[in-house]
Amino acid sequence: MGSDMNILIVGEGSREHAIAWKIASSPHAPRILIAPGNAGTAQLGDNFDVSAGDIEGLIELAKEESADLTFIGPEIPLAAGIVDRFREEGLRVFGPTKAAARIEASKSFAKDVMTAANVPTAAAEVFHSAGAAIGYVESATPPFVVKADGLAAGKGVIMSETPEEAVVAINSMFVSRDFGNAGDTVLIEQWLRGQEVSIFAFVDGPYVSEMTAACDYKRAKDGDLGLNTGGMGSYSPPPFWDDELERKVRAEIMEPVAARMAEIGCPFQGFLYAGLMITKEGPKVIEFNCRMGDPEAQVVIPRLKSDLLELALCTAEGTLSEQKVEWSDDSWVGVVLASDGYPGGYETGFEISGLPEDSEECVVFHAGTKLDEILETDQNAKIVTSGGRVMTAASRGKTISDARSSAYEIAGSIEFGNVYYRGDIAADV
Ligand code: AMP
Ligand code: GLY
Repeated sequence: MGSDMNILIVGEGSREHAIAWKIASSPHAPRILIAPGNAGTAQLGDNFDVSAGDIEGLIELAKEESADLTFIGPEIPLAAGIVDRFREEGLRVFGPTKAAARIEASKSFAKDVMTAANVPTAAAEVFHSAGAAIGYVESATPPFVVKADGLAAGKGVIMSETPEEAVVAINSMFVSRDFGNAGDTVLIEQWLRGQEVSIFAFVDGPYVSEMTAACDYKRAKDGDLGLNTGGMGSYSPPPFWDDELERKVRAEIMEPVAARMAEIGCPFQGFLYAGLMITKEGPKVIEFNCRMGDPEAQVVIPRLKSDLLELALCTAEGTLSEQKVEWSDDSWVGVVLASDGYPGGYETGFEISGLPEDSEECVVFHAGTKLDEILETDQNAKIVTSGGRVMTAASRGKTISDARSSAYEIAGSIEFGNVYYRGDIAADV
């Protein structure tokens, strides 16, 4: 393969900027196309105004631009079957099929896979009506975690200390239908206590690559207070992620799940993300995701020593097991800069200044940013805010503490009208 490859990356967050940034550094020296992208991805290649949910529009774009590979960032198009449609059109694509994406898109499907594969996970009961679910919480022992079965942008999980709280959660799903069809089926789970961690591997059928781990911060405010967000910061690798834990997670969780999915006719190809709780009895699965995490990608992708493009091409071709996946021992910390008010209401359109040059030590991955429309054609076009999570300042260090100091130094140098970020990312490590 020469240096005339065209790679299309689908998505618009910091995760997709990190993926595009890594692929741009491939020895294949590809041309980078991003749909729809942001002001950061525009510096690596060409943005196209096609949304991540517009599957037919993306197929047209991939054909028009002769994409050699399309890399899908977010879960929504995966769950909607974008990979199946691309393959029907003879287009090469990285990500799981609709059937395999159910590992994230249906929590009851994921439980069935785990039960059949004997994978440790929170005990759960599945319900299709409010009456049966309420009957259960009134007789079982709290606390409970009430979950909508389908995709709900991270919001369909309600932690309930008491049966009364669980009843409110059940009614929000079945009666007021706050989560739409995602709440047609509801799981009531055991509340697991312990250290939460996200595990990532490239998976190609039953094959699971070298894995790595990261931790993220979901609440808006310091001290894990405030509302749940898409993620306010992350670090990788956690110091407790050692060879013993890795062996256990591989043997008890990742390999049995990959093997089971292949066995039942929906082999997984793509990034498999396991959300775990490290409990007193060992690691247990909270959930699976069928793609990279955000903001975990911003600290995990920079640690990938191997060529992401080559790995993605091989996964798409079913030959990943011939490749070596190597993660560096460096530590990375990412601090998310948000618009004040997020995840509630916030203003946009503020000019962003003080952005450092990207280096081996630090990168700023954009999310809600765009080039000022008036000046779009100008070389010196201003970058303005356009979303709740605006960017992630990611930095490398020998230790998490070193990486944390420099990530905060960068975060402090970036300015926009209503900038807000947590001050305690990776402070507890
Ligand atoms: P999920 O959408 O399944 O990732 O859930 C969102 C968050 O809720 C997780 O990252 C955990 O912090 C929490 N959570 C979900 N399920 C459980 C559980 N069974 N026990 C404890 N915490 C949970
Ligand atoms: N960091 C959580 C997620 O990507 O779902």
